[in-house]
Amino acid sequence: MSAKKLSINSNFPIAGSKYTIPQIGFGVFLSPPEKCVSSCLKALEAGYRHIDTAQYYENESSVGSALKESKVPREEVYITTKILSAGNDVDSTYTKVVESVEKLAGTNGYVDLFLIHTPNGGPEARRLMWQALEKAKQEGKVHDIGVSNYGIQHMEEIKSIGKVWPPAINQIELHPWCQQRECVEYCKKNNIIVEAYCPLVRNEKPNDTTLVSICEKHNVGPNQVLVRWSLQKGFVPLPKSDTPSRIVSNADVYSFELDKDDMAKLDGLDQGKDGAIVEAVKN
Ligand SMILES: NC(=O)c1ccc[n+]([C@@H]2O[C@H](COP(=O)([O-])OP(=O)(O)OC[C@H]3O[C@@H](n4cnc5c(N)ncnc54)[C@H](OP(=O)(O)O)[C@@H]3O)[C@@H](O)[C@H]2O)c1
Repeated sequence: MSAKKLSINSNFPIAGSKYTIPQIGFGVFLSPPEKCVSSCLKALEAGYRHIDTAQYYENESSVGSALKESKVPREEVYITTKILSAGNDVDSTYTKVVESVEKLAGTNGYVDLFLIHTPNGGPEARRLMWQALEKAKQEGKVHDIGVSNYGIQHMEEIKSIGKVWPPAINQIELHPWCQQRECVEYCKKNNIIVEAYCPLVRNEKPNDTTLVSICEKHNVGPNQVLVRWSLQKGFVPLPKSDTPSRIVSNADVYSFELDKDDMAKLDGLDQGKDGAIVEAVKN
């Protein structure tokens, strides 16, 4: 697809699935419950059709309330959440998954994508969570399943513990200063869609001289250049904001295009795992 043709409705087909995922998502980490409802409503009004939450964020019910309150039909919004930790066995882990689905979409509802939040709980926790997610997928409570913060070794492990391969998604920290190229390359080869968390580097780099020069060239803000870079790399960026004007601005990225030179300059900012502000994966 030519970069010019990107739009807020761009989406990617998911390998081995009948579903697609909108290419831009709205993140809600650190969005307090009440604020989260109004931020999600604002995001839906601004045209986002994809919201990324997690059990850890303690705002799944708020996302669910916003979905109910909004006039956008459920099937037009893509909802992702993440399981934080396993129970004692697959069944108790599955119960945790169902609790999230109910908070987000009611008793007969579904979640579009459920991820394992982190591999850090160890091999047994990873196995229980993956098998619980497979069960939820089989029962239609979850359309697709994937992972987050997974290195290559953790993705390879799935082949021996589960029936579903490949994971639909790997959600990792990604921005010009932390490009995780080995992991991204592996995902591409295996048809695993890469989601970019912290796409705005949490606004820590607005004065970076390379970034500023590209902003001036296109007469846009650092947030817009960063989201655009992520989209043009073929990632699924998940910019978060609780500020209405920023929610709009972070998705106002379809009237300009970064050229080869801009992309090369931004690609040149990579600091490997030293550039991570949350964590780089362990391959
Ligand atoms: N899987 C994981 O382990 C993991 C880890 C981290 C994040 N995530 C996901 O990825 C999403 C995005 O990551 P993130 O929230 O950590 O970081 P981010 O999206 O890079 O940055 C969010 C921060 O930047 C500020 N901001 C937003 N738009 C701005 C703008 N236009 N100008 C200046 N500042 C702006 C926000 O402030 P205001 O809200 O005050 O506007 C907030 O403090 C999360 O919300 C979450 O859904 C996942």
